[in-house]
Amino acid sequence: MRDDTPGLESPPPPVLSLSGAVKTFGPVVALADGTVEIRPGEIHALVGENGAGKSTLVKILAGLYHPDAGEFEVEGRPVSFRTVADSKAVGISVIYQEPTLFPDLTVAENIFIGRQPRGRLGLISRNEMRAQADRLFERLGVPIDPDRIAEGLSIADQQIIEIAKAISLDAKVLIMDEPTAALSGVEVDRLFAVARNLRDRGAGILFISHRFDEIFALTDRITVMRDGRYIATHDTAAVSAPEIVREMVGRDIAQLFPKEPAEIGEVVLEVAGLTRAGVFADIDFEVRAGEIVALAGLVGAGRTEVARAVFGIDAYDRGSVRLLGAQVRARNPQAAIDAGMGFVPEDRRKQGLVMDLSVTRNVSLTLRNTLARFGLINGARERREAAEWSQRLQVKTGSPDYAVSTLSGGNQQKVVLAKWLATEPKFLIVDEPTRGIDVGTKSEVHRLLSDLAGRGIAILMISSELPEVLGMADRVLVMHEGRITARLDRADATPEAVMHAATASMEHSA
Ligand SMILES: Nc1ncnc2c1ncn2[C@@H]1O[C@H](COP(=O)(O)OP(=O)(O)OP(=O)(O)O)[C@@H](O)[C@H]1O
Ligand SMILES: [Mg+2]
Repeated sequence: MRDDTPGLESPPPPVLSLSGAVKTFGPVVALADGTVEIRPGEIHALVGENGAGKSTLVKILAGLYHPDAGEFEVEGRPVSFRTVADSKAVGISVIYQEPTLFPDLTVAENIFIGRQPRGRLGLISRNEMRAQADRLFERLGVPIDPDRIAEGLSIADQQIIEIAKAISLDAKVLIMDEPTAALSGVEVDRLFAVARNLRDRGAGILFISHRFDEIFALTDRITVMRDGRYIATHDTAAVSAPEIVREMVGRDIAQLFPKEPAEIGEVVLEVAGLTRAGVFADIDFEVRAGEIVALAGLVGAGRTEVARAVFGIDAYDRGSVRLLGAQVRARNPQAAIDAGMGFVPEDRRKQGLVMDLSVTRNVSLTLRNTLARFGLINGARERREAAEWSQRLQVKTGSPDYAVSTLSGGNQQKVVLAKWLATEPKFLIVDEPTRGIDVGTKSEVHRLLSDLAGRGIAILMISSELPEVLGMADRVLVMHEGRITARLDRADATPEAVMHAATASMEHSA
């Protein structure tokens, strides 16, 4: 049992404390004052805008970066890590947004890699390894087969495996850098249950997220960072979301920007009877000029799959896609782009960027094709347009000439958005447009989408965030298990109506 009575007992000494940590990359100061203190038995949130230095701080704790200055103690003893192994050895485990399992190894092998239990004769005991893995998953309350190959596991399961690994290493500190970004509601609940379980067993947990509902539901204390600096630490119960936001951005902002009414014009996109066996079936909908149509539903409902088929990335078995009345060729993204479609993918880091190229080049890559089509290509214009869009999205970088790989996660996302918005397509698909994007820029992204709709662009927005769906969409299509289970006008789109259609398959399973 944890004793939360304030003031009666002094808090336990921190299991980890970092103060005044500095990390520079050439002229870029990624971290100017990295300060955080994690107590045993607490879940501690680290918040800040994109580029505030959160991941840099995590990499110092993980032993990936060696700080230029600062003090670092684990259980009251000064430490200085040279490698990731040093950090692991004192009991720090880090779970990154993209887990780093070996795809060819089994789940159990991944957990025990490099320290497999050995039997007599010093041979690796597969049975013992499997049994230990089973016990770990039982403790976590999640059924995962230790013998299966890691390849093909969902991100959620991969994260659980990373956590199982952390537990088996007896981690004192577990760090999760935006672990929920790729998870569905159910998976988030499961991850939180596991995190609380670990906390109650005395581990200290550092949790990074841009989602305030999660931060307030899960954490005991919150540390705020801004521009690479420590700002403050609060008891979660004693602080409000607007106060945290003000400290993060240094001003008051609106969390959501509702869509401005736009004139709804002709049908731009028309999807009829789109079917892909086992993935989605009988998808019918249209999107008009000036309209934002949201595709809501749980992760795995088939929303991204429909979007990819419409844009020509994946094949479909039946049905048709028309843009302004003309059939769009299947399985041909270039034909879709030429016809006037844009697509901001969900997994922007992997699908949307060329990591080694500069910010300017990444933004202008897509733009270049568009400009070239109209015979307008010229370097100065390319730079100007790229600069304008990066600025509108508040992309934070030392210079637009830096490689995209040096940007923070959220800023990389903004570059992908910028590059598609810059092409001003007739029809734009945005898949989870504000995932990983901080509160300050979120409302800016919403304003931009609203602007684009106001200029007559038809927009299909996939989003798992209900407030975003309800705030931005003229119409909401809800998907469940590959089918559209509800079509709601803005006025009828209540949270209950959307959630009901997203979870209940009565309409089709009967
Ligand atoms: N290897 C690097 N080279 C140059 N600059 C870097 C490097 N790594 C990080 N930076 C810069 O340091 C700053 C902090 O980045 P960091 O990734 O820590 O931000 P963050 O708080 O995790 O943001 P996000 O919420 O977007 O993930 C950013 O401006 C980033 O561009
Ligand atoms: Mg980050």
